[in-house]
Parts: sequence; structure tokens; C-alpha cells
Amino acid sequence: MNRSIVDSRLSVATLLEKDRELISPAMGRYSDLVVDTAEGAWLHTLDGRSVLDFTCGIGVTNLGHRHPAVMRAVHEQVDRLWHVSGTAHHPQLVAAAEALVSVTPADLNSVFFGNSGAEAVEAAMKLARRATGRSEIIAFLGAFHGRTYGAVTLTASRAKYRVQMGPFLPGVHHVRYPYCFRMCSHGPGEPCPIAAGEDLDLLFQTVVPPESVAAIVVEPIQGEGGYVVPPDGFLRKLREICDTHGILLVADEVQTGFGRTGRMFAVEHDGVVPDIMCVAKGLGNGLPIGAMVAKASVMSKWHSGEHGTTYGGNAVACAAAVAVIETLRSERLPERAAALGERILERARGWRSDHPRLGDVRGRGFMIGLEFMENGRPAPELTRRIIQAAVDRNLLLLSCGLDENVIRLIPPLTLTEDELTQGLDILKASLEAAGA
Ligand SMILES: Cc1ncc(COP(=O)(O)O)c(C=O)c1O
Repeated sequence: MNRSIVDSRLSVATLLEKDRELISPAMGRYSDLVVDTAEGAWLHTLDGRSVLDFTCGIGVTNLGHRHPAVMRAVHEQVDRLWHVSGTAHHPQLVAAAEALVSVTPADLNSVFFGNSGAEAVEAAMKLARRATGRSEIIAFLGAFHGRTYGAVTLTASRAKYRVQMGPFLPGVHHVRYPYCFRMCSHGPGEPCPIAAGEDLDLLFQTVVPPESVAAIVVEPIQGEGGYVVPPDGFLRKLREICDTHGILLVADEVQTGFGRTGRMFAVEHDGVVPDIMCVAKGLGNGLPIGAMVAKASVMSKWHSGEHGTTYGGNAVACAAAVAVIETLRSERLPERAAALGERILERARGWRSDHPRLGDVRGRGFMIGLEFMENGRPAPELTRRIIQAAVDRNLLLLSCGLDENVIRLIPPLTLTEDELTQGLDILKASLEAAGA
């Protein structure tokens, strides 16, 4: 049925009004687009616009919207079995676990499925305490690990996530992340003391004896905190510290996983194998599934019933996950993101001479951040104007960062070269329009 333009505009207005009435105001939206259908890198709105999606639903649809292989797998599974939970076994659970451990770093071969990133993080925190018999957990300022109580206690990217919601989980401590563009005082090219573990040493010396620490939880590249790429060797240093003190290293790959950074997982850039890895987002390409993957020696410290879930390992979501992993491999999408990501970095870095407020361009693969500064201070208002100018030109972007002054580019790994050029052209025009 064709909708007239007037009718569709009216229905968009009505829909937005109902949304405001019915949906919790806590569930913020980055744009007022009302998306009706989507395919590949494109969102099609109810009022007839086609918008290039450089957000992937916050880093989820790595294969693009409605990738045919995932769609096929989901359709087939819907016709067979949806759900049994813990009442029985089912083949898709084993298939998804097998597919997952075939791509996680060696030794990470035991899986607990949940439905989201936060659930994977909760599971990791509980398992780390149970497996070590220790209580303390260390996370990083600027981190985002989710919003359930355990996960939000680790999260330290914005104080508003905590307003009048405490007390939080006891035993969690934060140290600085090596965010050299903003947080460090060392000169360019000089070694970063934070990446060398200075803050952790101080914490161990003054507040938290290392033998009481169950886990260090880290994003290999900080996501919500500003797409912060730490100096090479930072993760190796964490591994060394954990090995010295019998602490478990937990890598939160919820946003960085499944090819996003140009490798299947971001820890691979540093050649580090964590003890526990949290994944979600890209695993289901839009179907809700997450997982906590651990070394069998760690996972085996949990016994039947000590943790659980009703929906985790849902058969339809598992079928999607298997198709996602097969497609990432067969289409060599991590390699593609690595190659095309370099092009984005190069082009965006070239904009800095025309746009001095573009303070830093950083990232890996298709996880790229553009940080905007004005007179040495973060420029959230300018960032907001650029994003609005881009949406007006049919390119959807997201911000992130401690001050919301970073634009994150997270296109699907299946983006065509034409779409990439089109997106970057719009972004450049938006920088000009917003007076960057
Ligand atoms: C690194 C990281 N961990 C955990 C989460 C939480 O995932 P979810 O929103 O699926 O609970 C996110 C979400 O953005 C994330 O980026």
C-alpha cells in the first residue's frame, strides 16, 4: 500500500507522540528518524527517506541490516524450534558455542550464553569472584560495561548513569585508562605511564592488595568512553600484572568483537589472551544474544545452577550467531574492515588542516572516532551540530566520549566502497555546514 507524503508525515508525528507517551524517557534516542525497513547499510524511514547507517544500531549489525545468510538461518530456525531454555538440550546451542570458540583466542573454549552485553559482564564478574575466591574487581575510568547493577558499577563513562541510583556493588575500583589525547601529560611519542601500569601499582600499594583482586575488566578499545585506542602493549602489560598476582583478565569485547576493529577480536592486536571474554552486539547481528566465554579451567569452578538464564542460548538467536560467524569468515569481513578503515583514517586526518576543531582522529578497522575540541576544551555543541547536519543529509552518526564530543563511525563491515565514499562526502559537508 502506498502512503501519501502527507499521510506518512502525519503518521510519523502521531507515532513519535505515542512513543513519548508510552516509552520510558530513560530510553533516549539519538535521532527522530522512524525506521520502517532496513537493508545493508540503509535505513528506510516511514516518511520515505533512505538514510546511510554509520551506527549499526550501536555497533550491532556488523554484516549490515538483514544480511541474507542470517535472515535465511533465522527463518529456517523459526520453522523448527524457538525455545527450550534449561529444560532440555538443543543442537543450535552446541552449534553456536562451537562456532564461537572456533574464533575466540585459543583456550577460551567454554561458553555461557545470555541475551546482552550487560548479562555477559554480570556473568564474568560473578565467575571471577567464584573462581578466585577473591572479592575486588578493577575497571577503568571512561569504561562502559552496561547498566545492570554489577555492570553499571564497572561503568565509569558518565556520572549521570549513577544519579540517585546507588549504592552500587562493593569491591569495585577504578583507575585511569591510557587515553593519551586527553588524560596523559607525557609528550607525543614518549612512553605512557598509565599504559605501563603506574595507576594499578599505586592502587595495589595504597588501597587494594593485589591478592584480594579477582579480576581486571577492560575494553581493548574504549567504546562509549570515546573510541579510545590505548598505546600498543597496554593489554600485554595488564596480562603480565594479572599473571604476577593471580588476577583474571576480563576483556569486554561487546563493542569491539566480531571483526569490528579489523581483527575478529580486538585483543588480537596486542596478541593477548584474556581469561574471560564478554561478547554480544555483533554476535547476533540484531538478534539478542551475548556470551561470556572463559578458559575451561576457570569456567569449571562454577557448578550446575550456580548461574543461569531463561532466554540465554535461545535457538533462533543461536542460529543467527552461527550464520554471523560463518559469514564473517567466508566474506573475510574483518580483513575488509581493516583495509577500508585505513582509508577512513587517512581521509579524515586530511580534513584537520581545513577543520582545526577536529582535534584527533583515531581508531582501528571500522571503529573510528573523531574528537572535536574548541580552544583546548571539548566541543559537544559543535559535535551535536555536525551530527544534525549529517542526519539532515541522510547520514546517521552517533556521538560518544566523556564529553559527548567524539563522533563514532561504525558502519557495517559489508559497506560498499561507493557507500563509504558517499558517507565520508556527507560527513565532510557536515563539518563545513556546522563550522568545524
Ligand atoms: C563495551 C560494552 N560492554 C557492554 C555493553 C552493554 O551491552 P548491552 O547494552 O547489550 O547490555 C556495551 C553496550 O554498549 C558496550 O559497549
